[in-house]
Amino acid sequence: MFSHAHSLKAFNTLSLDIHTRTLVTAESADVILEAWKRSQAQQQPFIVLGEGSNVLFLEDFTGTVVINAIKGMTLEEQDEAWILHAGAGENWHQLVEYTLKKGIPGLENLALIPGMAGSAPIQNIGAYGVEFKDICHYVDVLHLSSEKIVRLHRDECQFGYRDSVFKHLLKDQHVIVAVGLRLARQWKPVLSYGDLTKLNPATVSAWDVFNAVCQMRRSKLPDPRITGNVGSFFKNPLISAQQAEKLLAQWPGMPHYPQGNGEVKLAAGWLIDQCELKGHRIGGAAVHRQQALVLINEDHATPQDIVALARYVRSRVGEKFNVWLEPEVRFIGAQGERNAVEVIA
Ligand code: FAD
Ligand code: EPU
Repeated sequence: MFSHAHSLKAFNTLSLDIHTRTLVTAESADVILEAWKRSQAQQQPFIVLGEGSNVLFLEDFTGTVVINAIKGMTLEEQDEAWILHAGAGENWHQLVEYTLKKGIPGLENLALIPGMAGSAPIQNIGAYGVEFKDICHYVDVLHLSSEKIVRLHRDECQFGYRDSVFKHLLKDQHVIVAVGLRLARQWKPVLSYGDLTKLNPATVSAWDVFNAVCQMRRSKLPDPRITGNVGSFFKNPLISAQQAEKLLAQWPGMPHYPQGNGEVKLAAGWLIDQCELKGHRIGGAAVHRQQALVLINEDHATPQDIVALARYVRSRVGEKFNVWLEPEVRFIGAQGERNAVEVIA
């Protein structure tokens, strides 16, 4: 640990007790640029965080962590839609509530997802049948070395399942500073998932959907303020239709979701559950008892406990189903991001 280390315990929702050499809270793009230039001059690594709800720090960070705190929301009314411009450091759930209180529907299925608005495009957050890409209008990105802010329109973001250009081509050197959402005036509730199918499309309101989503989430997902976690630890795996057919012959009750492109998505939580791993514990880390896809910091877990548990879960599922899970969570080492599959393989 460094002589003037800053704790990151409050800045990662796993509540891991790790540190960074430098910690900067940035309320503007200029402050981010300043911090980046200083870290470049000192040849230290640099990373931007929102709420740390999708990261696993493997060890102390040897450089600068910038917390994106760029605030501000403006609403523009157009004939067919509202356009909401939000600073990257606006809390996502509060933004969802803000729109509903203004009488603007469209974000209700994405209620209670932790994190900042500026992080939402990165893995194209999704829940209950809606993804960020469905309401994304644009993403404003600061390119650090040219100091320019560029606006990417939705079609340029290469959104996929838990994926976007911000995890690939624009991963380094690019910081999201704002997002623009397009919320159509003509509202069509999305009621295809879970308990939402019980709601009546003819009478349902956006608040009804919001409340049902919050209730489902609270029944399964631990509140990070009480129990450290990062939501789904792994992505739901995509496999070929042929492999899915073989697995279904053996496990006819296996949840599976054909994607229309020859691929089939499986439920990683179900696969882990079938290995009877709910509640399985290594050190202070455990598989959540209400949702097997969530790994929790049950009791003073170390990063090594979480890594060992993730490795064990992946190998058990791989051996039983020949399906090899990939983490959704981003692994951060002392110098920057590490390849998560390599770390737990
Ligand atoms: P962070 O964890 O701070 O950062 C994530 C990654 O993005 C890091 O690599 C970071 O370096 C990078 N980054 C952060 N901000 C910027 C920026 N401004 N510019 C460039 N890079 C940046 N996700 C879903 O999709 N659906 C869910 O239903 C869902 N449920 C969850 C439930 C719980 C209880 C928890 C804890 C997590 C859940 N998640 C879910 C995961 C998480 O909420 C999302 O991934 C969220 O978008 C992460 O936001 P964050 O601000 O915490 O990002
Ligand atoms: N299941 C089990 N046992 C478990 C967990 C799940 O059998 O322990 C089964 C469920 O019964 C259901 C299926 O698996 O048939 C899917 O479970 P669930 O509806 O809980 O959703 P999920 O696939 O586990 C995904 C997202 C969540 C998102 C929900 C709701 C991923 C990786 N996860 O979870 O996102 O909130 O759907 O849309 O795609 C996140 O990304 O962090 C996250 C929480």
